[in-house]
Amino acid sequence: MVKQFLEKEGAQLEKDGEEHYYNIRTRFNKEGNPLDFLFLSRACFNGLIRFNRKGQFNVPFCRKPKRFVRAYITKIVNQVARFQDAFCHYCWEFICSDFETIITAATANDLIYCDPPYLGRHVDYFDSWSEEDEKRLFNVLSKTKARFILSTWHSNKYRENVTLKSLWKQFYVITKEHFYHVGAKESNRSAILEALVLNFTPKQNQLEKK
Ligand SMILES: C[S@@+](CC[C@H](N)C(=O)[O-])C[C@H]1O[C@@H](n2cnc3c(N)ncnc32)[C@H](O)[C@@H]1O
Repeated sequence: MVKQFLEKEGAQLEKDGEEHYYNIRTRFNKEGNPLDFLFLSRACFNGLIRFNRKGQFNVPFCRKPKRFVRAYITKIVNQVARFQDAFCHYCWEFICSDFETIITAATANDLIYCDPPYLGRHVDYFDSWSEEDEKRLFNVLSKTKARFILSTWHSNKYRENVTLKSLWKQFYVITKEHFYHVGAKESNRSAILEALVLNFTPKQNQLEKK
């Protein structure tokens, strides 16, 4: 199904160019077909996943009409197959809700992974992320019996994430440099030091596993 769909829409994209990309984007925002989203996520600018305030996918075209060459379609088909193998044996429940509702329901047997918008960075998700949200997240994570891992940013060559020192300092922090290829211009692309905040240490995890 994925192969036939991408071959058909890829050929149309090669023929009609960006007009076909925007037709599929309009269709997806109306109907929400996951195959359209797969196409858009692979033909949009820099693979960015962004929604506007109306919850509509609004990323521009990648300007590569010949995007869906045979080898690329095969790669995507294999990725979907690997995902299905890895995930379809478990029953998943996806809940769209404010984080506070979900985190307060967690128990000591749970592992919580939080990846909120980065405070103080250009959070152009369809809803913004405020200091109040960061404090609210801190309050619920500080009280949880579950283990948590929080993704946030540490610093870049211009600024640092002050909440790491003001709010999250009691927790275990791991940092890793990451280079973002998001900016339209080369000059906007730079490295950032990412951080993982945990309420347990990897060592603790190893010990408990033994
Ligand atoms: C960095 S993105 C998550 C990306 C995702 N983990 C991924 O890998 O594709 C941050 C997400 O937090 C969501 N968000 C913002 N405020 C929220 C809130 N109060 N409760 C729950 N989710 C929120 C945004 O809608 C956005 O999808």
